[in-house]
Amino acid sequence: MTPNAKASMGTAVPKDLDQWLRQQDQRLHDDLFEFLRIPSVSARSEHNADMKRAAAWLHGHLERIGFTTRTIETPGHPVVLAEWRKAPAGAPTVLVYGHYDVQPPEPLELWTSPAFEPTLRGGNIYARGSVDDKGQLWLHVAALEAHLAVRGTLPVNVVVLAEGEEEVGSEHLAPFIEARRGELACDAVVISDSTMFAPGIPSILSSLRGLAYLQVDVTGPNSDLHSGMYGGAVVNPAAALARIVASLHHDDGRVAIPGFYDAVLDFPAPVRAGMKALPFDEAEFKRHLGVDTLGGEPGFTTLEKLWTRPTCEVNGMLSGYTGEGAKTVLPGKAMVKVSCRLVPDQDPKEVARALERHVRAAAPPGVTVQVTELHGGRPWRADLEGPLYDAAARALGAAFGRAPVITGEGGSIPVVNDFARILGAPVLLVGFGLPGENAHAPDEWISQENFRLGMRAIATLWDELAAAGT
Ligand code: BES
Ligand code: MN
Ligand code: MN
Repeated sequence: MTPNAKASMGTAVPKDLDQWLRQQDQRLHDDLFEFLRIPSVSARSEHNADMKRAAAWLHGHLERIGFTTRTIETPGHPVVLAEWRKAPAGAPTVLVYGHYDVQPPEPLELWTSPAFEPTLRGGNIYARGSVDDKGQLWLHVAALEAHLAVRGTLPVNVVVLAEGEEEVGSEHLAPFIEARRGELACDAVVISDSTMFAPGIPSILSSLRGLAYLQVDVTGPNSDLHSGMYGGAVVNPAAALARIVASLHHDDGRVAIPGFYDAVLDFPAPVRAGMKALPFDEAEFKRHLGVDTLGGEPGFTTLEKLWTRPTCEVNGMLSGYTGEGAKTVLPGKAMVKVSCRLVPDQDPKEVARALERHVRAAAPPGVTVQVTELHGGRPWRADLEGPLYDAAARALGAAFGRAPVITGEGGSIPVVNDFARILGAPVLLVGFGLPGENAHAPDEWISQENFRLGMRAIATLWDELAAAGT
C-alpha cells in the first residue's frame, strides 16, 4: 500500500544529480566519517565540548554548500539552523529536521570496532550515530549540496534544523519552535530518523509512539540493615518494589494502571489492513531475539502491539547487594525506571499522573514512595494524504526501484508532534535504517547502499515536491 501506488511508477533519479553523487561518493563518505568521529553524546556533560564541535562541524558544512547558517544556543545543547530561500516564487518551503547528538556508546567492550572510529565492514558503516541520526542527517545535507553544486539552485526553499538534545528528550526544542514559529513556517517537515521495513523496501512512517518516563524510589528504613537482625520485622523495600512492578500488568499482559487505555484511539482500518499485509515473519523475529515466546496484550498481532498499542515497561531496577557472593543485608531503598510508550490520543502528563497514583496505591505500608518524571513526548500519527506523500512515494520509487510500504514505529521522536502542532505542516518520516541496525546498542550501523540510495531519494524528492506544487 502506498499513498498513491501509481505515482511511484515511471520516475527516475535525475541523471545530473545521480552523476554528481557518484563522482562525490568517496568525499561524501569521508565527510560523514569525520562527523561520526566527534563523540557528540548529549547525555554526558564531559562531552559538552564535543557537542559544540559537532554543531560547529555541521554549521561549517551547511555554510559551505550555500546555506545561511546560525548556531543558536539553548539552555541545553545548541541548535544549528540553516536556510536557503532562493527558490522560484511560489515554490514550497520545506523544513528538514535531524539530530546531531548520539546515545552513549557503552558497553565499549562489545563494539567490534570502536564506537567513534567509523569502519566500513561488509557493506555497512559501523559507528555510534551512523544511523541514529548523523548518517541520515548527513545524507540530507549531501542531497542539498547535489542540487546546489550541479544546478546552482534548489527547486524548493529549505530550512535545516539540527538539534543536539533528541536523545535526552528534546526538552528545549518545543519552546524554540514556538518562539520562532514565523521563521520556521513551512509547507512540509521532512525527517530521516527511522528505519525501512526490510532491505530493499523503502518505507514511509505513519506513526510514532509517545513516551512517559518515570523513576520510582522506594524507601524503607533509614539505612541498609543486617538481614538477620532485622529481617522479618521490617518491610523490605526491594520486595515492596517488586510488588509495585508486578502490579503494573494483569496476568494476561494488559497494563493494569486504571484509565491507562481510556484515551487510546483505534488506528484507521486501512492502516491496520496495510500492516497486516506486510510480510512480517514472527518466527524469524523470535529467532533474531533469542526468545521462544512473545508477550504483551492479547488480541493483537506483533506489529500492531509495537506500532498501535501503548505499553508500560521496566527499563531498570536497582536495590540491595548485587556484588559477588552473598551479603546478608536488608536494603534501605529500591529504585525502578519505568517508561510507557503511548499512542494517540494518550497524553504523557495524564499517563504519568495515572502511573504515579497506581504506584502509590500499590505500595505496602512501611515504605515511602517518591515518583519523578524524567521525560515525556506526545505520540504522532500522519494523515498520509496529499502531495507531500505522493511526491515521497515517487522519489522513493525512483531511488529504490519499487513503491514504498507504510509502516508504524514503536519508538519516539517527541518533537514530531510539536512540529505538526505548532507549525501546522504535514510531517514526512522517511528513514533509511534497517532492522537489526543496533541503534542505541554496540555495533550500530547504516547500510552503505541505503546511505547512497537515501541521498538519491531525498535529492529526487525536492524535484518531485516542486513539480507537485504546495
Ligand atoms: N530515532 C530514534 C527513534 C526511532 C527509532 C524512530 C526507530 C523510528 C525508528 C530516536 O533517536 C530515539 O531514540 N528516540 C528516543 C526518544 C527518547 C530519548 C525521548 C526513544 O524512542 O527512546
Ligand atoms: Mn534518532
Ligand atoms: Mn535514538
